[in-house]
Amino acid sequence: MSKMLLLLVLLSLLNPAVEALDNGLALKPTMGWLHWERFMCNTDCDTDPDNCISERLYMQMADMMVKDGWREAGYEYVCIDDCWPSHERDAQGRLQPDPKRFPGGIKKLADYVHSKGLKLGIYADVGEKTCAGYPGSLGYYETDAQTFADWDVDLLKFDGCNLKWTLLGDGYIKMSKALNKTGRSILYSCEWPLYEWPFQTPNYTAIRETCNHWRNFNDVFDSWISIKSILDWTASHQDIIVPSAGPGGWNDPDMLVIGNFGLSHDQQESQMALWAIMAAPLLMSNDLRDICPRSKELLQNRRIIEISQDPLGKQGYRSAKGNSFEVWERPLSKNRLAVAVLNLQEIGGPRGFAISGVAGWKKVCDPQCNVTLILPEYKEMGVQTKESKLILKVNPSGTALLTVTPISKDFGRIHWKDTD
Ligand code: GLA
Repeated sequence: MSKMLLLLVLLSLLNPAVEALDNGLALKPTMGWLHWERFMCNTDCDTDPDNCISERLYMQMADMMVKDGWREAGYEYVCIDDCWPSHERDAQGRLQPDPKRFPGGIKKLADYVHSKGLKLGIYADVGEKTCAGYPGSLGYYETDAQTFADWDVDLLKFDGCNLKWTLLGDGYIKMSKALNKTGRSILYSCEWPLYEWPFQTPNYTAIRETCNHWRNFNDVFDSWISIKSILDWTASHQDIIVPSAGPGGWNDPDMLVIGNFGLSHDQQESQMALWAIMAAPLLMSNDLRDICPRSKELLQNRRIIEISQDPLGKQGYRSAKGNSFEVWERPLSKNRLAVAVLNLQEIGGPRGFAISGVAGWKKVCDPQCNVTLILPEYKEMGVQTKESKLILKVNPSGTALLTVTPISKDFGRIHWKDTD
């Protein structure tokens, strides 16, 4: 073995955190739709047929995803959350959907979703019961993995309720292996660290080797307080969690609640911008049959989605905080940088923020850079320098989002020669 090869092998042993679950999935943050935040555990199809957890709901969402440009924009997975199964397993010990609400069965639903060029996600739990009290997978990991594979499911959200915390790791790893054994590509979405944090710091090396994304913190609610608490938790644990994210495995700050009831438009922009900066899965939980045009446009903003899906696959982080502003930065491919400036002051009007206060600015803009403002509106800000006096205007609880592209010295020289 050459010395160089030996060095590489040693380095890779020293840095196991880069090892993602090797199933070829989630090379970019997952995009799709998940029912929980908006539709919860509504099983009352008699009085609320349009909003209850039934095959009809997912079929309608799949239809909307095609019809209204969601699939085109990159949203791909239509995901079922809790409350889909019958309370009893079948005679062979397999999970079965509630027969009244899913008369066609999950396989048929998967076929339907696939026929639309989309993928189907399902939900189960590592413990004795799901969080809402439906049968859990404890003791049935292989059976359930095989059932989901037989149904042609493409994603499993695996919750962590109703299991002693010391058994979480074992359960999540066993299910990961069971999914792998089926031979079907099933994206594996975990909540392992969320349930372990109250007791100990989770082992993110192991989590990354086991899951394609993982929830760390509380469920998102349809409120600005909830969004702020998620951002705060993420920033205050970023030294631990940011290094574990990359192609194949992502931190999951929970669903996008854009298009619902609780966030102002500025707050919706903040969620979208920061979820892109955090390289988070973009799983919307809203009603695609009834969503306002501005929310739709925001969720389908291709410039924000490009940041989310950047091929470098590095998660951003909070780089500064003060005067009721927060600055978040995400390194992008080709030495570019995405910057989000969040105005946390919930009184008064738009406030100015001097761009020179962004930590990465001096590096990317030396000697010059190109700036594109994406939020609150798209605007080419042109060539800027290290000393730029550019001031961003940010609304209360809103976010200014921009990308900064370096103009290399070499390019400058060639350009100078060309125009000479
Ligand atoms: C937990 C999860 C949620 C949702 C519910 C379902 O609270 O964190 O995302 O899946 O269970 O019961």
